[in-house]
This record gives sequence, structure tokens and C-alpha cells, in this order.
Amino acid sequence: MCGIIGYCGHRPAVPIVLEGLEHLEYRGYDSAGVGYVLNSELQVVRAKGKLKNLSEKFQQERNALTVTCAIGHTRWATHGVPEERNAHPHLSNSKRLAIVHNGIIENYLEIREELLQKSYRFASDTDSEVLVNLIEDRLAEEHDLLHALSAALQLAHGAYAICLLDRDDPNKLYAARLSAPLIFGRGIGENFIASDIPAFLAYTRDVIFLEDGDILVADSQNYTLWRSSDLNEIQRPAQQIQWNMQAAQKGGYRHFMLKEIFEQPKVISDALSGRLDDGRVLLPELDALPVPKRLHIIACGTSFHAGLWGQHLIEDWARIPVQVEIASEFRYKERLLLDPEQDMVLVISQSGETADTLAALRMAKELHVPTLGLCNVLGSSMAREAGAVLYTQAGPEISVASTKAMTSQMIMLACLALYYGRRSLTLADDDIRRHLERLQRLPLMLETALPEMHSMARQLARKYAQAKSFFYLGRGHCFSLALEGALKLKELSYIHAEGYAAGEMKHGPIALIDPSFPTFVLAPRDDLYEKIKSNIVEIQSRQGQIIVLTNAESDLHSVDIWRIPALQGPLTAFLLLPCLQLFSYEMADYLGKDVDQPRNLAKSVTVE
Ligand code: AGP
Repeated sequence: MCGIIGYCGHRPAVPIVLEGLEHLEYRGYDSAGVGYVLNSELQVVRAKGKLKNLSEKFQQERNALTVTCAIGHTRWATHGVPEERNAHPHLSNSKRLAIVHNGIIENYLEIREELLQKSYRFASDTDSEVLVNLIEDRLAEEHDLLHALSAALQLAHGAYAICLLDRDDPNKLYAARLSAPLIFGRGIGENFIASDIPAFLAYTRDVIFLEDGDILVADSQNYTLWRSSDLNEIQRPAQQIQWNMQAAQKGGYRHFMLKEIFEQPKVISDALSGRLDDGRVLLPELDALPVPKRLHIIACGTSFHAGLWGQHLIEDWARIPVQVEIASEFRYKERLLLDPEQDMVLVISQSGETADTLAALRMAKELHVPTLGLCNVLGSSMAREAGAVLYTQAGPEISVASTKAMTSQMIMLACLALYYGRRSLTLADDDIRRHLERLQRLPLMLETALPEMHSMARQLARKYAQAKSFFYLGRGHCFSLALEGALKLKELSYIHAEGYAAGEMKHGPIALIDPSFPTFVLAPRDDLYEKIKSNIVEIQSRQGQIIVLTNAESDLHSVDIWRIPALQGPLTAFLLLPCLQLFSYEMADYLGKDVDQPRNLAKSVTVE
């Protein structure tokens, strides 16, 4: 997820674009750049790292203050590590066009090959540079940039929100969107185009939300909207934004955590994007590696819980024995019984910078064991040091409590299980197809269910907010979710909570149950449902209060039943997990805690 902005108007454009990028920095911040036309030449100024590195470069670019049209970009790398050469804007070969792009062009390698055959050359590893040269290539065939842009977008598959500058028409912005947000801000004698409203909210509240397949052409006074496919002119209604700036950065949500919980349907789609083809999973990153005889998953915190959940699928679908270990335990073992011929170590980390997990990765490498990283941050230490890396493509996760990242990790682990299941022939193609169909149904199922889940979470939080301790119980793949639910409650509301294997209650913990010690039970309708019901009865007989999260028609009484949509098998986890996240969110918010920055926590634990 990147941030793009374009400005054309009566003011110096570069300061406005830089200011707009500051308000988009939450969307991605590993590099940034600005493009504008000066003395009939397209200028591009870019910098790696935080936006301030780019702003400092403009201390020397005083002439840039004379231009009144510019585009800008703050990057969350998806293709090409965060280096200046991969930062946007990207120029076409003739240096006539400059583009800023948010999204993923899935068939960019194929297009790149075709352009290379036509003697185009590329300075970056990005799909965006391919797109701007595809537009240039079409320009040779079409009679104007609008037609060339339309022709190019018919060939590019995937998601894009773009803004384009033309050296030969320097005071005009060209923009287009497909499956990535783009908003037109209509000012007086000035116009804006951006990924999100905060970029220009200080200047105008009069906005038009572009729809998929729209092309916008605007200068300082006018704008026109076209349908990309046939270049028919279209109209879109303008809206007045009532939000304040802070609310706007959170998309109108109270907290980044809530926004990121509600982003999970899109995160599932993005994680699957470009990885499914005709009933099978494509993970070319792993094709050259052997299928491991044993898999060791090493991680911390929520990532550890994701790994614990993935163990069930990888063992069940791919028949690979999996050992899941906490990184801080793994790294201090006296002896690592790892065999480079048999084993693979999979490290999971949203940030890719967690010290304990990095240490585990380095130990495995010292033993020449094949290593795989599952990360969310391109160019992170783990991504660079692992032998192979899979990216979760969840976009920046701003809230310290991890939510959408865990969902994306679990999607990738499900894909890994299906990928290895096919390579090892432990899964029939029909079974793979059935699992993939369920995975592809998840985004809509979750999108539809989230509002009701949120309402139920808010209702239950008000009933249980005074609890001093909570049990979270689950069996099978729900045991890992019980651990995660307990972690979320602890780290957000500061209420003590324990995740437990439900079958373990009778071995001691049930002694804690009384009316003031509630239990949250994960009870999906699966082979273990009858067993978990007996745990519920045991707790009830000791006057314990119970929340039962289930997709079954429940014959349970005097408990709080929280019903979710029915989905067979372990993929129901993608409907259970958001409930756990929302319950903890509402408990913390109701208790007045600092939801996005809980006390004592850091987003990435880069030290021991
Ligand atoms: C999750 O809510 C916590 N913030 C924490 O447990 C986190 O999952 C853990 O520190 C691992 O972080 P990583 O995924 O970036 O390695």
C-alpha cells in the first residue's frame, strides 16, 4: 500500500505535494519521491527512507518552487527492495512521462519482456516502471496520451492507482484506478488527486471518489472523467468530507487497529493476489527448493500463534511434520537437532526485524539448513537474510497490536500447505480446488460479517469489562486462536488472560473457575465440537460465565452465544480471529486504554 498525490493549481506545487505525502506516510514509508516539469524537462527527486530525507533534498532544489503542477509518492515496497532506484516517480525511457503508482501489476514480468524486445531498458525492479513504459509504447500507436493510457490499462492486469505527468503538457494530471483507492479533490483554481483524503484535506473538502476503470484528466481549472475501456465521458457525484485530519488518516475509524481489522477482507484478497492459477497455488519463490521432510516454524508473539495455526494445515494437507517454537527459546537451546538434508526453518515476522526471530534465522543458516522467511516488510533484515522469502502483502500495520498481519500470515501458511500438498501429491487436485474455493470466498464472507461481529463485540465488552481474568479455550487449530485471543486481551486491555488447550482444564486450571473468572470458548462445529461442549458444561457447573464463539446451531443454555457464519474446516479461523480482535479492541476502548500504542509495547521488538 503506497501513498500517491498529484497537484495542479496556482500555488508552488512541490511544498503542497510534500505536505500531502506527510499525511500519507502511514500508508508506507520506505522511500518517497516527487516529479515535476521544469524548463521543459521532467525532474524527479527521490530518497530512500523517511519523508524527511526527501524534504532535505529540496533545500537545494530552490527552482522547484516555481512549478505549479507536481506528483508525489510515498512507498510501501511490493516489487523491488526499498532503494532510491525503486522509489517513485518512475520515468519512461524517453523521459517524457513520469508515473506514481499504488498497487500490483500482476503481469508486469510478461509486459517487461515484450518491452525489452522493443529495446526498452529498465533502471528499477518495479512493476510501476514497466507500466509507464507500456504507456509510452502505446503513445507511439495512439494519437494522444489519453488514448495511450486507456490502451495500456487494458493490457495491465492487477491493481493500480496511478498519477501521470507529461513533459509536453506540464500543467495537466492524468490519473486512473483499478482496485486501489484514488480520490479527486476539487479546489478553487487548483485540483488534487490522491490515494486518501488526508493528503489534501487542508485545502478542500470537496471530493469525488473515482471508481474502478475511471480515468481522470485535470488541470488547475477543469477536470474530465472517462471510462477507461471505451473513453466515454462519465460523471461522478461530488461529496463534502466532514472528517477532521486525524480521523481522515484512519479512514474515519476511531483507531488504526479498528481500520486494520476491517481491512482484513482486502488483506486476504491481496495475499492471494497473483498466487492462484487454475486450481493451484503458485509460489515460484520455493520452486527451486526441495520439499522439506521436517519444517521448523520459529516466531514470536502473534506470529508464533499464526505458525501454530499453520502447523495443523501443513501437517494435515502436506503431511510434513511441523515443529513450532518460540524464537527466544529456540535461540538458546544447547543443541539444535537440525539436518540440512531433511529440515527447513520457516521464520515468521510481520516487521522482519524481531531480534529473537532474526537470531533463530541466523543460527539455522550457520547450520546450512534451508531457510524461508514469511514477512510483511520488503527489504527487512529477515527478508534479506532468509534463503527464500514470501511476502504477506498486508500493507503497513500501524497499530502495535497485530491483526491484519496475522490474517495474511495464516493465508500464506494455508497456501504453503496447498503448495506442498500438490508437490508431494498428498492432496488430490479436487481437494486443492475445494480448499482454494473456500479461501476465495473468505473476503466477501468476512466483509459481510464484520459489522455484526463488531456490534456483538461491543455488546459483550460492556458486560465483561470489569473482569480481572479471562480464560480462552480452544481445541485443535482453535488452541492457537485461544492463545492469540488471550494475548490480544492482555496487550490491549491489560486484563490478565490465559489461552489454554480446552482438554487441559481438568488437569488443574479449572480450579480457578468461579463467577468472577469468565471463559471465552472457541467452539466451531467440527470433529471436536462435542468435546468442547463437555468443557463448557464443566465450567458451567462451577458457575463460570462463558462466551461461546460458534458457527453451530447451539443447544447450549445460560451462556453468551456469539454466532458467526458457518464455514467448514480450519479456514473458519478467518471468521473466528476477527471476533477475538474486535472483543479485545472494544474491551480496551471501553476501559479507556491507548488502543494503538498500548503501554510498555513496541511495534517491533528489535532488541532482546
Ligand atoms: C502482537 O499483537 C504483538 N504486537 C507482538 O506479539 C508481535 O506479534 C511480536 O512482537 C512479533 O512481531 P513480528 O511479527 O514483527 O516478528
